[in-house]
Amino acid sequence: MTTARRAYRWPQSLAGEVPRIWYGGDYNPDQWPEEVWDEDVRLMRKAGVNLVSVGIFSWSRIEPEEGVYDFDWLDRVIDKLGHAGVAVDLASATASPPMWLTQAHPEVLWKNERGDVCWPGARQHWRATSPVFRRYAIELCRNMAEHYRDNPYLVAWHVNNEYGCHNRFDYSDDAMRAFQRWCRKRYGTIESVNDAWGTAFWSQRLDDFDEIIPPRYIGDGNFHNPGKLLDFKRFSSDALKDFFIAERDALQAITPNLPLTTNFMVSAGGTALDYDDWGSETDFVSNDHYFTPGDQHIDELAYSSSLVDGIARKRPWFLMEHSTGAVNWRTINYRKEPGQLVRDSLAHLALGADAICFFQWRQSQAGAEKFHTAMLPHAGEDSQDFRDICELGGILNTLSEEGLPGSELAKAKIAVVFDYGSEWATEHTATPTQQVRHWREPFDWFRALADMGLSADVVPIASEWDSYEAAVLPAVYLLNEANAQRVRAYVSGGGKLFATYYTGIADEHDHIWLGGYPGAIRDVMGVRSEEFAPMGDDLAGVPDHLDLSNGAVAHDIADVITSIGENAHVLASYKAGHWSGMDGVPAIVVNEYGKGRAAYVGSRLGREGLAKSLPQLFDAMAIDYARCDRQGAVLRVERGGTKIDRVNEANGVERRDRRFVFAFNRTRDTATVQVEGEPVVVYRARIDDGGRTAAIEPNGVLIVRC
Ligand code: GLA
Ligand code: GLA
Repeated sequence: MTTARRAYRWPQSLAGEVPRIWYGGDYNPDQWPEEVWDEDVRLMRKAGVNLVSVGIFSWSRIEPEEGVYDFDWLDRVIDKLGHAGVAVDLASATASPPMWLTQAHPEVLWKNERGDVCWPGARQHWRATSPVFRRYAIELCRNMAEHYRDNPYLVAWHVNNEYGCHNRFDYSDDAMRAFQRWCRKRYGTIESVNDAWGTAFWSQRLDDFDEIIPPRYIGDGNFHNPGKLLDFKRFSSDALKDFFIAERDALQAITPNLPLTTNFMVSAGGTALDYDDWGSETDFVSNDHYFTPGDQHIDELAYSSSLVDGIARKRPWFLMEHSTGAVNWRTINYRKEPGQLVRDSLAHLALGADAICFFQWRQSQAGAEKFHTAMLPHAGEDSQDFRDICELGGILNTLSEEGLPGSELAKAKIAVVFDYGSEWATEHTATPTQQVRHWREPFDWFRALADMGLSADVVPIASEWDSYEAAVLPAVYLLNEANAQRVRAYVSGGGKLFATYYTGIADEHDHIWLGGYPGAIRDVMGVRSEEFAPMGDDLAGVPDHLDLSNGAVAHDIADVITSIGENAHVLASYKAGHWSGMDGVPAIVVNEYGKGRAAYVGSRLGREGLAKSLPQLFDAMAIDYARCDRQGAVLRVERGGTKIDRVNEANGVERRDRRFVFAFNRTRDTATVQVEGEPVVVYRARIDDGGRTAAIEPNGVLIVRC
């Protein structure tokens, strides 16, 4: 499971500057006349910006004709920035190929499942598996790297941009041949492919790798082979990753000292690529996060950022993009509330980011994103957003001076496991219910734990979830033999494991583990379920929920648990009246297994149902929660601690003892907290009680140093 990871390399500060939290955004000077650039630099300085990402969509300006490069304008911009102390995260510029390229080589354009061509007109219209496109892109990378190899203002490479945002799936012939090669490498023989995909079903037997085609259009209302679909998702992530690696290696060969990254899209259910797998291929992890408006806002942000921190294996990561306010790509683009610009940035920081950047520096006047907010809005310097941006710059400077950069997010008590493969498999159709998907369940747990006053770590399945006091497997539908063994070893060794419905149902090929659910870990969980009982609100006479004896309410799905193990006991069961034989069926079961305990939650309880059940579950699992406030008004996160070793040129390894405690108000009312240390940032908050307590307003933040 564990892939070798690249050594961690973080962008170093410009000569003469001290290391600080990086602060800035995407900068697109090519959208503006040159007079504007000086104004940009002046305002960047005013705001405390110290880094911008440049050139992301500039291919047609940098290479206006095949083989003809124009770096002059970019040199001038980078020079202006560098002289003002603004470092550059330089793009490989390969994200949006110019018209001359696609006119000459329409075979680089990707195709959808019906064979329609994705024409130029937006961006990312290229296919990852095209050898022709790869040649052009690598040539551009080499030219960029050659030209900028000695530029003192570059601190990192921004390779391409959000791979797979628009070109995740390609069904072209290039993709087909690459998929065939991928299958050959993964399976060796066509017989193994037949086994993995269960091709005995519906006469899908393959005699040769040449017969493998992408999952192209099969007519409406029909069902693709789920094993093949799952592999096509894996392949698509890998095909783009190969492309990234080719770009990365071309740049690195020429500029070996510059760290490289590419921006991920870990937000809500965003699983375009297997970002945990990708994380091991970057020098440092970077992410683009766009807020979910409404009551989930801060929780979803914290959940996604915690997962990014898990992908980064707790090394500080880079927030490459977020928004100052509204985006422009939803149907209704809600504003951020006053305070949320700064609060969101500080929340990412709390969850392990050492760089806070936005899309984008100056709001566009024309083009598809002219209504997307930016650090410098249409209204200009005299605007609330820009004042907030300046205030944020000041806060980040303070935190840099206090010594926050380089510190790690403190490890939580509980790990909530996230698994890209399970999300991919549960989004397929032809399942018990399409209301159930993997990613929502870890999110429900994260929120319910937060409601208890506990902040959990969201941890990729390949990472060390089994080093935590307790771990949750939330609808982890796919469990291969190795992971099932890890579960066994963890619990028998004393671990405290929670698992839910829809966990351990299938192996890595999406073949069901037989003998009753959860087949992969039935022994550990001490339950056996024979059927699923989905619920919906579209059928008269069938309830859309089930009441549990502990007061929680289940929705969407419940397991029909027919027996429990001899060391298991039932914590709660269903009160279902006459419905479908569910009355009295066990809903929550705790099992003793080796030195540990395992709790099975057999239905979707959602945030409220889980929050209601957690005290009872914690008691049964012997998890101490006496110190939790159980109000959950505040999300409390800690960075730093004694385990941070940093190499310091003068003194060798330096041990730092500083801890920073962040408190975010999750509610719409003022929340009161104890002040645990020296206040460093008091944002929309007030210190009361002679310094002992703080009143944090909605969207407010308190940061103290201990
Ligand atoms: C039809 C088909 C069967 C099977 C069932 C499933 O009846 O003939 O092969 O797919 O639907 O409901
Ligand atoms: C993505 C892209 C940016 C921009 C933003 C807008 O994150 O990387 O170029 O389009 O979305 O939200």
